[in-house]
Amino acid sequence: MAKKINVGALISGGGTNLQAIIDACLSNSIDANIIFTGSDNPGVKGLERAQKADIETFVVDYSQIIQSCKKGIKETDLPEDFNLEEIQSKQQLVAGDVSKEQIAFFLKSRAVAERKLLDIMLAYDMDLLVLAGFMRVLTPYFIDRINTESGIYKIMNIHPALLPSFPGTDGYGDTFRYGCKVGGCTVHFIDYGEDTGPIIGQKAFEIKDDDTLDDIKKKGLVKEWELYPQCIQKFADSLI
Ligand code: GRF
Repeated sequence: MAKKINVGALISGGGTNLQAIIDACLSNSIDANIIFTGSDNPGVKGLERAQKADIETFVVDYSQIIQSCKKGIKETDLPEDFNLEEIQSKQQLVAGDVSKEQIAFFLKSRAVAERKLLDIMLAYDMDLLVLAGFMRVLTPYFIDRINTESGIYKIMNIHPALLPSFPGTDGYGDTFRYGCKVGGCTVHFIDYGEDTGPIIGQKAFEIKDDDTLDDIKKKGLVKEWELYPQCIQKFADSLI
């Protein structure tokens, strides 16, 4: 068996994808170990799943941080190496019709939270970061501190639609409402846009005329649980 890669995971909720990855690691069907699981949301089931598998966990409470930023962000609250102009010029998350002040608030408040994530995560020897139902976008501030080698992507995400169709937070809902006859999921690398990075793998499923949104979500999740471990293995193989 090849050397195992060290994988960090970020989640926000139930963590069924995390569970699929944990199971694949434990059964040695992929050459990977999960070294930590972080959440932006305290008390979620995914954290329990990690703890049950003896994986170290932590929480960076985004809601609390954003609330406190709304009272005002002082220069000293920001990471020392935060450069607003640089992040603003790279970001592709917020559209041009949003005011400069709103964009600045968004980028600054997220960087405050992201620095807390980084302070914990960077203590680990991590080959790959997987977003497994992590419902927060990552700004260039964070991405640049993980992707430190030019042209090498180290953050993966799973998206509940066949990208480039239906980016955003409700892929299965959008697939259902559009009346698609095929749905699917995508694992891709994270770049500066929302769900725009290079695609690593996809799986599709048929949507029957009488399928409900719930049916689509169920079919989709089963495909996600197969796809994510496969894409992690593909990444591990690429390092050999
Ligand atoms: C999945 O559908 C994933 O595609 C999306 O969020 C959901 C997370 O589910 N990003 P879980 O927390 O892995 O159960």
